[in-house]
Amino acid sequence: MTLFDVIFSGNDTVYDLTVKAVDDAIAANGADKAVSFPHTAYSLPCYYGVTGTKITNLGDMKNALDVVKSLMTREQKLNDAFMSGVATALCAEFIEALKYIDGAAPYEEPCYGHLADAVIRELGVPLVTGDIPGVAVILGSAPSVEEGVALVKSYQAQGILVTLVGGIIDQVAEAGMKTGANVRVIPLGKDVTSVIHVVSVAVRAALIFGNVTPGDAAALMEYTMKRVPAFVNAFAPLDPVIVACGAGAIALGFPVITNEETFSVPKSLIVQKDVSKFNATSLEARDIKIKITNIDIPVAFASAFEGEIIRRGDMQVEFDGSRVDCCELVQTMDASEIEDHKITVVGPEVDEMELGSKNSIAYVVQVAGKNMQPDFEPVIERKFHNYINCIEGVYHTGQRDMQRVRISKDAFNAGFRIKHIGEVLYASVKNEFDAVVDKCQVTIYTDPAECTRMRHEVAIPTFDKRDARLANLTDESVDVYYSCILCQAFSPSHVCVVTPERLGLCGAVSWLDAKATNQLDPNGPCQVITKERPIDERIGEYEDVNEAVKKLSQGALEDVSLYSIMEKPMTSCGCFECICGIEPFSNGVCITNREYAGMTPLGMTFPELASMTGGGVQTPGFMGHGKHFIASKKFMKAEGGIERIVWMPKALKEQVADRLNATAKELYGIDNFTDMIGDETIAEDPETLLEFLTEKGHPALGMDPMM
Ligand code: SF4
Ligand code: NI
Ligand code: NI
Repeated sequence: MTLFDVIFSGNDTVYDLTVKAVDDAIAANGADKAVSFPHTAYSLPCYYGVTGTKITNLGDMKNALDVVKSLMTREQKLNDAFMSGVATALCAEFIEALKYIDGAAPYEEPCYGHLADAVIRELGVPLVTGDIPGVAVILGSAPSVEEGVALVKSYQAQGILVTLVGGIIDQVAEAGMKTGANVRVIPLGKDVTSVIHVVSVAVRAALIFGNVTPGDAAALMEYTMKRVPAFVNAFAPLDPVIVACGAGAIALGFPVITNEETFSVPKSLIVQKDVSKFNATSLEARDIKIKITNIDIPVAFASAFEGEIIRRGDMQVEFDGSRVDCCELVQTMDASEIEDHKITVVGPEVDEMELGSKNSIAYVVQVAGKNMQPDFEPVIERKFHNYINCIEGVYHTGQRDMQRVRISKDAFNAGFRIKHIGEVLYASVKNEFDAVVDKCQVTIYTDPAECTRMRHEVAIPTFDKRDARLANLTDESVDVYYSCILCQAFSPSHVCVVTPERLGLCGAVSWLDAKATNQLDPNGPCQVITKERPIDERIGEYEDVNEAVKKLSQGALEDVSLYSIMEKPMTSCGCFECICGIEPFSNGVCITNREYAGMTPLGMTFPELASMTGGGVQTPGFMGHGKHFIASKKFMKAEGGIERIVWMPKALKEQVADRLNATAKELYGIDNFTDMIGDETIAEDPETLLEFLTEKGHPALGMDPMM
């Protein structure tokens, strides 16, 4: 048999199975029975991406099988093999979709099955920043549990997102390894068809971020090949079905590395007999470069541990700024005042703290450098959260004087101590901010009296001063804005214009962040944009901003406004925290955020609304934005501003209430504005919402229609 014959036979097997499964499902449920995956606006994503047609019921699926069949040509040619691979993938998608009929939850812990659109949107930023340098798909059973676990851990330590299919799932469970999206190891499912759930992520990335037209299969495959850094590790023995799936992966540009003695195709199907070399071979095949941060601590340090949670029962000690005096602070010093890499602990070490106790901690990172500016202090400080979280067995939330840190028993038993937090902060700051930080010294206080002094006499006055500076930082008070094009890795024509009062839509890039990024890397993603030639102050349009946007989008965007959702609105990539859309009955807008899974009065959920915009195109009436922007005086200023906000999920409303109410008071003299804004406990449909708004006398009702 040739390799082609193996692929064809695997494809035929899966196709026959699928035909039978669809026929059985129709016999049991009727052809009108709805079929979809949960929490996606692109159901069924792979078939939709490849053909441009949405399958909504079993009858559609039956018809789609003919389209799939038409891909299954049988010449001994590369293209025929690829298309049979794609056909196999589509069949797998159908089989998996059938499992979800009637809202069933076919996957149980630890397996995930289908992944929601929101998960993909969350992956946007870490993928573009290289924080997640690649995506590994591991399929089958490793020769031994030890080899399997070692392979998974090797990727995890590099920050690579690992998805597991088949026997490897039981192997890592047997070894007691923690899995889950929060540690970047995602068991998909034990059937080989569950591999489609990661393919679906790649396809949706192209639709969400890449503005690829559904049905443009060539553009889709070019996108996944160039921009989704995925690869497959398939353990021996391979059967024809796995080989056919592999052909599908290769068609999308994902190389397959296997330890089976089989045919090899340069750069695509690679035989590597030694499983311990899978990692190196895979990275080389996909051309993935890993940023190495070597830090001298007794536990692992990798971005994969960022989402790790330490439960009360697993913790050795905790530091809690909400209960005792804590703080974290960056101070700019003169070079002569500090000693590089000096790390001092003032007060007891973890050994002297009671098991499970709450303690004080204050870490002060003093930096010096010719290019250092006090404006960069909060930018550096905010990164502490990521740095400390990347330590295996250490957990961090909050910031400033309200942070909380937990050290697990495992980390403590491995030898992790307070001083290692200093090592991590030192190495990370020096590594990331080398353009502005020449010298760095870390002092960690655990002595309660010292913590109280540091917090109240040093940190809080510094924070107050910074807040006063931020409050004075308006779009009018600065001379320049900044562009951010980080997301172009996935959204090739998207440009964020970042101003003091409008942060990047991902919520992660403020004007100060962009300024620091520009200073750190003048040719990097953030460029200075002047604002000297206004065209229309009302919508915030400038000739110089337009020129910059046109250049940075390679001509895709001609003009953009900063303050309007209707006229020349800013584009979205896909990783926005919130999406806002107009609500015609009230002349207002509804906002929803990624975390909110429920319905909005617009009749759409977050993923559905989010799919209305993205890919770097302008869509009047819809705007992706950061949470922080909601309370800005520049939020939709051209259409009347925050007075237009009529609905938000309750949790989001609570999060932004203080700032939003302050803005409403200042701009319009309204007290407790958020009391007038609906949420899911009040209304999920426009009629009920309108009643509520009328009762409250919401100002939007008296405003001009936006359309
Ligand atoms: Fe992407 Fe805009 Fe955030 Fe930059 S500011 S990372 S371009 S969303
Ligand atoms: Ni951690
Ligand atoms: Ni983005």
